[in-house]
Amino acid sequence: MEADPANLALVASGSFGTSLRDDVLAGFAQPQRTLPAKWFYDQRGSELFEAICATPEYYVTRTELAILQRCLDEVARALPTGAVLIEPGSGAGTKTRLLVEACQPCAYVAIDISRSMLSIGARETAVRFPSLQVLAIHADYTRLDVLPDERLPVGAPRVLYFPGSTVGNFTPEETRAFLGRVARWIGPGGSVLIGVDTRKDPAVLEAAYDDRQGVTAAFNLNLLARLNAELGCAFDLSRFRHRARYDAVLGRVEMHLESLADQQVEVAGVVHALRDGETIHTENSYKYEPAAFRSLAADSGYTCRATWTDDAQAFAIYHLVADAADGGGQPACAP
Ligand code: AVJ
Repeated sequence: MEADPANLALVASGSFGTSLRDDVLAGFAQPQRTLPAKWFYDQRGSELFEAICATPEYYVTRTELAILQRCLDEVARALPTGAVLIEPGSGAGTKTRLLVEACQPCAYVAIDISRSMLSIGARETAVRFPSLQVLAIHADYTRLDVLPDERLPVGAPRVLYFPGSTVGNFTPEETRAFLGRVARWIGPGGSVLIGVDTRKDPAVLEAAYDDRQGVTAAFNLNLLARLNAELGCAFDLSRFRHRARYDAVLGRVEMHLESLADQQVEVAGVVHALRDGETIHTENSYKYEPAAFRSLAADSGYTCRATWTDDAQAFAIYHLVADAADGGGQPACAP
């Protein structure tokens, strides 16, 4: 094991809210059984997600990277230099290093639920940029209320980077709540650079979530393997199949695990009967038309300063700026 670079600090926040066990218990008690998507990312799940990004069908990652590469100069001009760059769900951090190079932040805060991905990604960034202060926080960012401000440069502008359409895992209401919390992290005038998938042909969307090599299927089924390993469950993975379906009304791809037989499964001491064809809902990936996303951002207290897309509008990157805490308009205390 190599020593940590001097510019890297790893902290455990303890902000995990509910445990896997609690979430599974609650999710299985519902009529439509549900498992939260954040639990996909154990070591194997994180590796499978990286593999999904390389499948021909999953256009998301490569389209976003192409937009970022093409528009990097403009993005860098739009964002402040010397900022604190904050990345929830930092993962492998490939796009991040492009952004760091272009925007020259003074500090980088990586937050991830997967400890292994977090330390690998943050370490790589710290080694690549020796004068960048890197703070890696092991946490569930949906549960993190405040950043450890005492460990961050005072007075530096803040930029939150949220690529990959990760925001699509939230419902629109959850997105509003999340962006509201982010506004408190970055302060009035702070920036959000966010990558969001667009609505498109259902066949294209469904293929992206059901690739022919079966990587996405393995990613989805790995959730059951994780329950077996970590909660002592005995799911027979061969008795489930992966399903991906686009709901054009809600504008989301849903992933499910479908039971291939009537079967009983024991989860944390509770036996559940699953019918043949019954599903466990494991993920939502919401898609937004650019105008709809900008209006959601506006409702959440932001002004959209720029939208960057590819020619086919298959993906979009938005630059949002947080309004004043009073919601913009008049200053709270007029002179
Ligand atoms: C990481 C949440 C953005 O929803 O597209 C990819 C996860 N799931 N294939 C997405 C995912 C299935 C991905 N996000």
